[in-house]
Amino acid sequence: MLAGDFSIIWVDECASTNGTLTAAPPADDGRVHVLVANRQTAGRGRRGRAWLSWPGSSLTFSVLWRFMPGAPAPAGLSLVAGLALARALEGLGAQGIQLKWPNDVLVHGEKLAGILVELLPARGRPPAAVIGIGLNLHLPTGISVPGQSGVTDLSRTLEHELPAATIVLAAILTELHGLFEIYASAGFPALRGAWQQRHAFTDLPVCIRGEDSALYGICAGVDEDGALLLRTEAGLQRVLAGDVSLRPGDGAGA
Ligand code: BTN
Repeated sequence: MLAGDFSIIWVDECASTNGTLTAAPPADDGRVHVLVANRQTAGRGRRGRAWLSWPGSSLTFSVLWRFMPGAPAPAGLSLVAGLALARALEGLGAQGIQLKWPNDVLVHGEKLAGILVELLPARGRPPAAVIGIGLNLHLPTGISVPGQSGVTDLSRTLEHELPAATIVLAAILTELHGLFEIYASAGFPALRGAWQQRHAFTDLPVCIRGEDSALYGICAGVDEDGALLLRTEAGLQRVLAGDVSLRPGDGAGA
């Protein structure tokens, strides 16, 4: 990967880097377009939630990734983004990184980073996705995030000083580029094993909460499309959406 493969725009403030790239995707000039913001005034999280971040304390950015013309619907893409982020952080020396389906990055059950993948409407163009990443670098002390049972930051997972945000960004973009190339040629099955090695809830009892339902079972990993597999009383079920947490009473949730 070369620096010239990317166009990186770093702004002081915007509403949401995902919002900006999805609303007005830059023209396809063969580069991967990246938008970084020091501050988001309306950061978006998964499932319609807000994403809170603190200037100087977080790295918030989005990557516009275009697939080859005729590429199939990108199954498992959001898991690949989580895996790339996990590997980049490990490469920087972070200890104990785990993945929670579909793509939260955790350390000891606490959330270190979140990812929001939004597919762009095709409108006759090759498929494209905006991958938005919010990574806690060094949170102010005493922070609590509504709806989040625990949050952590990169500085706490390193035994050495926190690298500059530009170094962290470069490490993540390098991994994203490398894994997306593998994904584009071989699909999620080529990366499934690496994802499962880091899965926080393998063989653990979990609850999956949907809009207005809850499903209980034992986590049995993910399938070749990136769907979560759950062993339930009714048999093995594929889960395509929802929030996973350890079943109440079975341990600390994330
Ligand atoms: C989640 O865990 O709910 C996903 C959070 C994703 C947050 C990032 S921050 C950069 C990008 N822009 C957004 O508005 N959201 C994503």
